[in-house]
Amino acid sequence: MNFTASEDYCGDARVIQHSFIKHHINKLGLRREDTVLDVGCGTGEETAWIAKGVKFITAIDNSEEMLAVAAESNSVCNVAYFKCDAQTVGDNPDWREKFDKVVCFYVLHWVPDELEAIRSISKCLKSAGEALFIIDGQDDNFVLLQATSFLKGHKKWGPYVKDYQSQLRQWTRSASDTEEVFKACGWERANCEVRQHEVYLSETQFKLFMKTCLGETPLIPAADQEDYLQDLWQWGMECSKDKSRAESYRFTTFLWSSTLLNKLSQVRFSKQGKVI
Ligand SMILES: C[S@@+](CC[C@H](N)C(=O)[O-])C[C@H]1O[C@@H](n2cnc3c(N)ncnc32)[C@H](O)[C@@H]1O
Repeated sequence: MNFTASEDYCGDARVIQHSFIKHHINKLGLRREDTVLDVGCGTGEETAWIAKGVKFITAIDNSEEMLAVAAESNSVCNVAYFKCDAQTVGDNPDWREKFDKVVCFYVLHWVPDELEAIRSISKCLKSAGEALFIIDGQDDNFVLLQATSFLKGHKKWGPYVKDYQSQLRQWTRSASDTEEVFKACGWERANCEVRQHEVYLSETQFKLFMKTCLGETPLIPAADQEDYLQDLWQWGMECSKDKSRAESYRFTTFLWSSTLLNKLSQVRFSKQGKVI
């Protein structure tokens, strides 16, 4: 992620994320009386949208830049934002077994110890609580990883980004392995689906997605940012499989895992949690 551009991580920059969340949110069966924990809320755009249909959302993120934008742009009366790490969210006694639902969208692949996060998040759910995770799935053509390779080999941008190590780690487990991992981390029922998703991005949307999600972006001098994004856009158009829709980027290049989980027993969690 590019946290220096957090204020841009909304609207056109989040078309991909929002369209997929919108498609799958009903799996969670959110109710008006629900209290919800949003793990890795980012700028809170999705949080504020979900808050319209529930009682209260506690939203956490470990990025101060993201939270500052959330507080400024998506402050609504039934949402509270907190700085907290997903790996330790369950250590807070005020949040233990407090939530009916958890949402965690596009976060686990950025967390260094995702199993610790999965265990810790589980501690926050009430008995019979449910969660929906959306995770970037394994795909060799995943556009952010491809863009990283493109930039490293680029004559002009390569020298700026050559030492950059992306923190993004795709979820390489199969759907059935993912279910087993969640169960081993204390979740009673786990249902994982892998879905391919297709979105068409305009030039503005593509550039904003790259600007906000590529960690390389702040390494490029400010005066060159426009040229850099233009080169990425040209590259994206060449990669896009759909040549019939001029001036739009066909974003089909990665698979997403969507996981719906239902935790019924906290006790079992403690026992199983130690096994891993
Ligand atoms: C791609 S953004 C997704 C934001 C939001 N969920 C959405 O759907 O737009 C990933 C977010 O995860 C947050 N994040 C990454 N690692 C985290 C961690 N260990 N604990 C809490 N938040 C984390 C980042 O700061 C960032 O805001």
